[in-house]
Amino acid sequence: MRLKGRTAVITGAAQGIGLAIAKAMAAEGANLVLADINEDEAKKQAELLTNEEARSIGIYGNVASVDSIEQMFAAAEEAFGGFDILVNNAGILFSTPIREITEKEWDMVQSVNLRGVFFCMQKALPYLEKKDHPRIINISSVAGQMGSYASGMSYVASKGGILSLTYGMSRRLAEEGTGITVNAVCPGTIETPIIRQWTKEKISELESRIPVGRLGHAEDIATAVVFLAQDDTDFITGEAISVNGGMYCG
Ligand SMILES: NC(=O)c1ccc[n+]([C@@H]2O[C@H](COP(=O)([O-])OP(=O)(O)OC[C@H]3O[C@@H](n4cnc5c(N)ncnc54)[C@H](O)[C@@H]3O)[C@@H](O)[C@H]2O)c1
Repeated sequence: MRLKGRTAVITGAAQGIGLAIAKAMAAEGANLVLADINEDEAKKQAELLTNEEARSIGIYGNVASVDSIEQMFAAAEEAFGGFDILVNNAGILFSTPIREITEKEWDMVQSVNLRGVFFCMQKALPYLEKKDHPRIINISSVAGQMGSYASGMSYVASKGGILSLTYGMSRRLAEEGTGITVNAVCPGTIETPIIRQWTKEKISELESRIPVGRLGHAEDIATAVVFLAQDDTDFITGEAISVNGGMYCG
């Protein structure tokens, strides 16, 4: 069990990639805090994940609110005496054409996808600094690396921002001697509820751009996250791992 005795907070863990990460981490023995605006589902999934090796709790957590982030981490402290791993997974996607993007959409996307990631990292520091081999893993996107084929510019900018934050935070926190590693995982097109807003034709077009010949599964992303979460990856920091079936590389 690669994560036995470790505790992870995963944002946006009620479904999709976040839930797959939770399942993979629970199978490796980690205690989990599943945080999501969908509190009922987070609680339900946490109950299903609790096993003989480890315990999971599900809580309300809205990463767009700093108060809510603080409450989320306080809940982790109360249940497990803190946490070792933060997975910033919560995200929202709009695919609005360039000329139709509104200020409201732009601000909403940045507040969840980018501002939320920064403040989760900032507010997690006092907890992570107390732990050995602490980890921050940010879920960016192929859209943040190459501008995307289908996602809107509000999303593209937020995911590019996550990469910059990952690089900046990894360097600063290493120089400060915190031992906290900060890495990103960049999914390609993954079959989850978030892509249901695209037509079948759009999804087939995206699939045709994937050399491996299929869409990604949420479990493909979880594999990379569990790898980065292990306590023998102290020398990997400021890295962005692409998990995209070859859709974008180089
Ligand atoms: N599916 C893909 O193709 C793909 C590709 C690249 C990156 N990603 C990224 O992976 C992450 C997970 O995406 P997914 O495909 O599982 O999406 P999803 O929509 O299936 O799940 C997202 C989860 O985040 C939660 N959430 C939304 N806003 C929140 C908030 N303010 N606070 C807390 N939780 C919130 C939702 O309730 C939901 O449970 C996102 O950051 C997304 O941008 C997904």
